Amino acid sequence: MNRFKHRMNEKEIKNRVRKMFGAISPRYDLLNRIMSMRRDVYWRREIVKHLPVDSRTVLDIATGTGDLAIEIARRSPEISVYGIDFVPEMLNIARQKTKNLDYKRRIEYLLNDAMHLSFADDSFDAVTIAFGIRNIPDRLGAIKEMVRVVRPGGKILVLEMTYPGSTGMRRFFKLYLNRIMPWIGGLISCNFKAYRYLPDSILGFLHPDELSSLMTKAGMEHVCAYPLTFGITYIHEGIVMNGSSLH
Ligand SMILES: C[S@@+](CC[C@H](N)C(=O)[O-])C[C@H]1O[C@@H](n2cnc3c(N)ncnc32)[C@H](O)[C@@H]1O
Repeated sequence: MNRFKHRMNEKEIKNRVRKMFGAISPRYDLLNRIMSMRRDVYWRREIVKHLPVDSRTVLDIATGTGDLAIEIARRSPEISVYGIDFVPEMLNIARQKTKNLDYKRRIEYLLNDAMHLSFADDSFDAVTIAFGIRNIPDRLGAIKEMVRVVRPGGKILVLEMTYPGSTGMRRFFKLYLNRIMPWIGGLISCNFKAYRYLPDSILGFLHPDELSSLMTKAGMEHVCAYPLTFGITYIHEGIVMNGSSLH
């Protein structure tokens, strides 16, 4: 038996993430609601409040089943949203959820890889990404790509779960992630592997300060982080100063 744990390269991680979200897509929304006790709905509402008031075009990266893209279009009648994801099964569900909405014409979904966006430089007033950056191995590269497509003065907003700072909450959260989440997720999705990966990806994710530093390194200014729900989730925001000219 091989005693050395195989370390996956970027391509292998991407394939694994693609396969996993493809497999759990039919139950993804239900599981989000149950496992976060509907906090995910509140978190997405909060991030929309951070969009600049004069935004007209927003790109939602790793849009999945479209919940954030839909929330942005629902709350802001002037905004058109592009939602991109690299898993067709997730996008199919997003399209189904959107097709009967009054504001469906302001939402478009595209199959795209966050690392190689098919948009011109400075195309958007803002970029959002909810629970996506954690699944992308080259985070700095992904953030630089976001910076490229945002116009100078535009905003990047990252919503992500993290490991909370306070010891009590950390203990509870670790127990929940390691013991409870894999069982609920595994039973409902019939995919125990996926719901072992997800807690690991949260526990192994960056500290909020490290994510702030990455955003600054990628060329953003006025980077701020806002904790939500005892710090288990954060909104990070930053302003793009020179956008595409940086890269
Ligand atoms: C946890 S889901 C989040 C979905 C949605 N944003 C939400 O709020 O529920 C993560 C999503 O990131 C997508 N994803 C991961 N890596 C990606 C990449 N390199 N390019 C595009 N999408 C990616 C996955 O396919 C998945 O739909």
